[in-house]
Amino acid sequence: MTETSTNGVVAFDVTDRIAWVRFNRPDKRNAMSPTLNRDMMEVLDGLEFRDDVGVLVLSGEGPAWTAGMDLREYFRETEAKGLAGTRQAQRESYGWWRRLRWYQKPTIAMVNGWCFGGGYGPLFACDLAFAAEEAKFGLSEINWGILPGGGATKVAQELMPFRRAMYHAMTGEPIDGRTAAEWGLVNEALPLDQLEDRVAAVAAVLLQKNPVALKATKDAMRRVGTMSYEDAEDYLVRAQEAANSYDNEGRKEGIRQFIDEKSYKPGLGAYDK
Ligand code: ACO
Repeated sequence: MTETSTNGVVAFDVTDRIAWVRFNRPDKRNAMSPTLNRDMMEVLDGLEFRDDVGVLVLSGEGPAWTAGMDLREYFRETEAKGLAGTRQAQRESYGWWRRLRWYQKPTIAMVNGWCFGGGYGPLFACDLAFAAEEAKFGLSEINWGILPGGGATKVAQELMPFRRAMYHAMTGEPIDGRTAAEWGLVNEALPLDQLEDRVAAVAAVLLQKNPVALKATKDAMRRVGTMSYEDAEDYLVRAQEAANSYDNEGRKEGIRQFIDEKSYKPGLGAYDK
């Protein structure tokens, strides 16, 4: 059964442990307004720790994935409120993209159509991305006179080879799904009518994996990018050890001895093992 967010601009269904979340402003090509950004955070928040959700897929209603930031509501109307308005709008959009980058469950972008500008934030935030060959991707900021902000320049630079990223940002020329796959923006492109089946099959593979290991793996993949080899090696040892002891009974015992037994104070020493 399809559910919607408070303001109806995000829709979702949970089926067979997959949360299918959709930008739901098809008449505005799913442009990200402040309302949509708030609703998306609400939906992500509600789904993240549900036991019946193992994978989250983000797609769009209608012909767009998302046409980027809403030029009227996100830019013009918030700018009219001064710097405070702009900063609040930024916090709300960057906030849910960040939440998605470090989401507890594996995430897949299913790019069914238009994906512009600010859309690169959630695109990068998803762990994997699959696109319709018919989809169109563009850093269109240059076409209306700004640089690709909100992380979009960083996303292009992270995902694409330098010359392609530079060309993409400086010309604002859209590319189709197949080119997006060739340039590294998405994992694969396939005809729109096969997209959902392929994403469901990938989600099914992820659902077979150990969820603690998946979370550790996806976080590690993002974190090691800026580390030296030595730091990454050390981080990975510790991340694995943390994952091993994720549900370690010891912590619970420590809390029990402090809260229930009142036999020690963690500020002053360790609990009795
Ligand atoms: N912001 C605000 N409204 C938008 C946006 C947007 N980003 N994108 C589409 N809309 C609105 C249109 O204004 C129009 O509204 P209306 O029906 O009230 O007039 C409605 O959505 C439909 O848009 P059309 O342009 O008629 O749809 P079409 O399918 O012909 O074109 C396309 C789709 C190519 C996506 C076009 O709408 C477009 O170029 N949108 C802007 C894309 C863009 O550059 N986004 C900003 C990226 S930069 C950034 O995000 C920071």
